[in-house]
Formats: sequence, C-alpha cells, structure tokens
Amino acid sequence: MSILAELRRRFADALRPLAGEPGELLDMVRASQDPRFGDYQANCAMPLAGRLKRPSKDVAADIVSRLKVDDLCDPPAIAGPGFVNLRVRDDVLRSRLHAALRDERLGIQPIERPRTFVIDYSAPNVAKPMHVGHIRSTVIGDSLYRVLKFLGHRVVGDNHVGDWGTQFGMIIFGYKRFLDRAAYESQKVEELARLYRLVNQLVEYHEAKANLPELQAAVAGHEKALRDFDALANQSPEAKKKAGKDRKRLGQRQLEARDEVESARRRIAIVENDATLLKLANEHPDIGRQVLRETAKLHAGDAENRRLWEEFLPACLAELDRVYRRMKVSFDHTLGESFYHERLAGVVEGLLKKGLARETDGAIGVFLEGHETPMLIRKQDGAFLYATSDLATIQHRIDAWKPDVILYVVDHRQGLHFEQLFAVARLWGYRDVDLKHVSFGTVLGKDGRPFKTREGGTVELKALLDEAVEKALGIVKQSDAGLTEEEQRDVAGIVGLGALKYADLSHNRTSDYVFDYDKMLSMTGNTATYMQYAYVRVRGIFRKGNVDIDALRSSGAEIVLSNPVERALALSILQFAEALETVVEDFRPNYLTAYLFDSLARCYTTFFENCPVLQAETESLRASRLLLCDLTARTLKLGLELLGIDVAERM
Ligand code: ARG
Repeated sequence: MSILAELRRRFADALRPLAGEPGELLDMVRASQDPRFGDYQANCAMPLAGRLKRPSKDVAADIVSRLKVDDLCDPPAIAGPGFVNLRVRDDVLRSRLHAALRDERLGIQPIERPRTFVIDYSAPNVAKPMHVGHIRSTVIGDSLYRVLKFLGHRVVGDNHVGDWGTQFGMIIFGYKRFLDRAAYESQKVEELARLYRLVNQLVEYHEAKANLPELQAAVAGHEKALRDFDALANQSPEAKKKAGKDRKRLGQRQLEARDEVESARRRIAIVENDATLLKLANEHPDIGRQVLRETAKLHAGDAENRRLWEEFLPACLAELDRVYRRMKVSFDHTLGESFYHERLAGVVEGLLKKGLARETDGAIGVFLEGHETPMLIRKQDGAFLYATSDLATIQHRIDAWKPDVILYVVDHRQGLHFEQLFAVARLWGYRDVDLKHVSFGTVLGKDGRPFKTREGGTVELKALLDEAVEKALGIVKQSDAGLTEEEQRDVAGIVGLGALKYADLSHNRTSDYVFDYDKMLSMTGNTATYMQYAYVRVRGIFRKGNVDIDALRSSGAEIVLSNPVERALALSILQFAEALETVVEDFRPNYLTAYLFDSLARCYTTFFENCPVLQAETESLRASRLLLCDLTARTLKLGLELLGIDVAERM
C-alpha cells in the first residue's frame, strides 16, 4: 500500500470518533506541494470544525491526539488555522526503498481485495482500415489494463470488434460487382479495403447529393438565427453581456452546419472529379439500399453472403492483428458483434416479457425516465441494433467473467448510447456490476479541427505509425550513441511508437488534443522521448562507472539520505504507488505521465545536478547514490511499461 493510502487509513481511524464515516474528508489528506509543509498535509480539520461548530485549531489538535502515525512519521505539526503537516520518518523511507530494491514490483504489494474488471477497448469496425480515432481507445484501454493488472486486480481485455455491420454489406456488394479477381487472389486484404473504400465513396456520394439542399438550408437557418440574436443582444449593453455564452453556442452550431455542408461537397467532388467513379455512381443510383440489403441478407443467414463473410473475416482480423502487433497491444478475447448475433432475438424477447420494452411505430424500444426517445432494440424491419448487441454483450460478460466493473473505453460521442444502455441494464436486473463509460475527446489537427489528411480524408493508423517511426529515426540518427543501423531502426521503432502513445496518454482523456509529431518527439518537456532519454542517461552512469548494478543491489549496501535533494528523490520514488492508485480512481493514465514528469524526472534532475554520483566523496555515499539511480531507472521503466511504452538501453 502506498504511504498516502496508509496515512488515509490512519486518518480514517482518527476521524471516525469525531466525524462518523470520514468519506470525503480523507480526500483532503494529500501529498504536499511544498516541502516546507512536510511530505503530506491534511486539511480536513477546517471543514470538520465548521460541521462541529468548534475552532479549527482545536479540531486539528483533537485529530492529532487520536492519530496513530508514529511508526510512519515524525510527530505531526499543526500550522495556520489547522493544517496538519506530516513528515515521513527517514528510516521509514529508507526501509521502504530497500524493500523496493529487492523486489521486481518495486515494493508495491498486490491489492488486498482484488476486483474483476472487464475492459472493452479498441473495438474498431473491421474491414475498414483503423484510423487515428482508434489510437485513443486502444492506447488508453491498454494502459488501464496494465495498471489494473499490476495493482493486482483480475482484468479481462475484450476487443468488441464491429464484424457484423454495414461495412460487410459494402464489401459483399463490392465483391459481387467490382472485384478485381487477380488482386483479390494476390492481396486479399488490400483488395477488400479497396472495395470498401470504393463502395463507401459511392454510397456517401449519393447520400451527400440527396442531403445537400437540406444541409444548406440548415446553414442559412443558423445564420439567420445568429443575425436575429445579435439584433436582440445589441438592444442594450446588459443584454449583450448576458448573451455571451449563448452566442458562442449558436456560433458553434453554425460552424458545425457549415462543416457538414463542406464535407458533403467534398464527398460529391471526389466522385465528380473522377470519370470512372462518376460512371459507377451513375450506374448504381440506389447503392445505399443495395448495401443494406446485402447486410440484411447476411444477418438473415443467406448462404452466399454468409460464405463470403466467413471468407473475408479471417483476413480482416489478421490485418488488425498486424496493427496490434506493431502497437504491442493484445487482448484476452476478441468477441465481436457477430458473436452475439444468435442471442439478440432472446434479448428482445426477454425485455418484452419483463414489460421493459414495448412497441413503438412498429419498432421495439425501451422507454427510460428522463429520456425523450426510447432506446431502440429492434427496427421496424426486424433488424437488431447496436444497443441490442451491447445488451447481449453485457449479459455474456457477466455470465462468463462475473465482473465487478465493466469499463467501456469509447469516444465521448457515444455518451448517450452508454447512458441509455447502462440504465436499461440496471432495469434488466444487472445492478451489482459497475458499468462505466471511460470516454475520451477527439484528436485534432493543428488547425484545431478533427485530424484529417490534407485532402480531408481520415488518417490511417498505419500511416501515423510509419511517420512517427520515420521521424524518430531522424532523431536517433543524430545521436552519438554509436548504434549500428539496425539498432537505430529498433530504437526508432521504440521512440516513435512511444511518442505516439505517450502524447495520447499524457492528455487528460476527456479533452481533445492536437496531434503534432514535433511536439510528441521533443526531447524536452512531457514526452516519451524525454522519459526514454532520462532512462538511458541514468543507465549510462552505470556503464560509465563500470558498475555492476545487480551485484550492488544485493551487496547489502545502504541507502543514506544525506541531504534534502536525495530525500526528495527517495520520496518521489516511493510515490509511484500513489500515482498508480490515482490512475485507477477515475481511469486516467495522465496521472501516471504527470507523476513521471513532474515528480520523478524533476527530482532526479535536481538530484543529478547537486549530488555527484560516480565522484561522490565516500565509497558508501557513491553506493547509496547509485542505488537511488537504480530505483529511478527502474521506476521510469516500469512506469513507461504500464503505459505500454518500451525503453531502449542506449539511444
Ligand atoms: N465498434 C464501435 C465503433 O467503432 C465501438 C464499440 C465500442 N464498444 C461497445 N461495446 N459498444 O464505434
């Protein structure tokens, strides 16, 4: 258990007689920002004093008198209106560091009461190439998987791929009409991807043509609304001031409407600027309906479509696998939508029987309090929906793995879907499992708009990986580490992939972030490259000093904390456990990157600038400092590993 968790436990015992269950008061026990106020600080006396109607200093004194921390801390100090400041005893720091030295897990014990987590992440729709949007789910999910597992929980990673949807209708249709047999025979996946792109372009073309007038009318409508709004707001300065936020929202909506018109125009232009495409488009005016028909036939068990699907799917999954191997991500299960197909009718029956679902305009839906529209589980034409399949998935996961928690690492735009899904699942009777949408924002280009290629298309994940590695190679080539060309390529792979992952993970997942190769590969600042270099530099000390660090570790050499800088580094190393605990509180890997950068790397830099290691004054001081370097390197390495990022020994 981390020092912080231990302290909170002690505070809980001290607070209970005063406050009952201390709950939120415990959140006010934290690591201090300023070492002058000790290592940890508890600010809970103030709110508690308000509740008890007593002077806060008295309450603080009361808490301290009940607090049993003498085995961990120096005697607590009370400051100001009732801050309780705690300083961890040096011998405690030292003994914990020694325990960490001897342990692969750096002294972090697996949790006492493990829980079972199912993580639903990555989940691309197969048959279309993975794109930039899939980075986030894959990388965030993978790192949560690693951290939870490391902490000792049972974790099931399940890749809920879309392997049953319209995209298969598209390639089936494409296969029947546009197949290049020779290409299919030699490069199956490429040909399927081409068919997907082609059919999708044609479908989008006709859709865009049909929708354009309406979209344009919407823009005009928004523009008029803005003008009317401005006229009203301009009537008085107060009105204008008050209108600020609403104006922004209106403006936003107008921009979105314009984007939609633009994207429709782009889709039309792609086809119209290409004589072959245009000819095909004209030959297949109802391609959208045809695609839906092929999909429906597949779902209904049509022999030919089923055979084609069975032929296509392994190739599509193998292609996905190649990308995952490159990204060093793996799953315990890949149970896609098709796995649940047979169960969907039963789900609808069950919900009807329980009186939870009912007919609405020929479809079947579940009506939920607080939601205007029902969650549809069967369409008029009998087809099942995304939600139906997600309900079957919940049922299966609970039967198969008995999870305490299911995490859905999915784009924030699916927020409403999950809200409704979880509500229905609870009505259905699944109340003991905690269902949580771990949502995330959008990857933006430098222009602040969703990241697109220069032509406005989606950026493929493979291309992103290639470019990151290419750029990393440029950096690695400049280094004077004396690597062979092959080693340089290996290191570039590690650096490029690390940069991509870290850039994603270091941002608060709920915000959007701007995709920028130069920034993510920068050697200064909060980047993987900086962390990987930090690791290499620490390890370089051992090489330079000809130190056999494994031998030193088991030699019985003592760590001494001879000055505040060493002590600060020691404390930071031990706070790794706290960082991991915070990551899983709200499933935010950026707490780990923040720890590595703001705490560990910073403390190490200060230490390195102030404390000679190889040239330390005495042999024992040299050994102690080398051991601190060792712990730093291992914490960096393990921390990055839990983010799914490798290190190189030299670069
Ligand atoms: N395949 C879906 C998509 O690409 C994401 C699936 C997320 N997981 C789930 N259980 N709904 O939008």
